[in-house]
Amino acid sequence: MAKITYVDWGGRSTTVDVANGWSLMQGAVSNGVEGIVGECGGSCACATCHCYVDPERLAELPAPDDNELTMLDLAAAEVRPNSRLSCRINVSPTTEGLVVHLPETQG
Ligand code: FES
Repeated sequence: MAKITYVDWGGRSTTVDVANGWSLMQGAVSNGVEGIVGECGGSCACATCHCYVDPERLAELPAPDDNELTMLDLAAAEVRPNSRLSCRINVSPTTEGLVVHLPETQG
């Protein structure tokens, strides 16, 4: 279990407990956090789970694989150096307190 904070485009912050092994996308969708869609259900095929990870915590996370990078190119909003697909990041004790910002649009 880890506390994850999602900050939407308007600056509204929502902090929820997400179970270990769940993705950041699942944590958002199951808690009704708006701004992450997760259209493909987490199979890295839609890019509607795009998020911006706190740059200072980015290095703690496993690097994106080629598939994630390819899908990120299709994200509807601006892609930044700290852009990730939230379905590709699993919650663990390492992610405790992680803050992710949500893009202006998911498509
Ligand atoms: S939920 Fe579709 S790519 Fe993440």
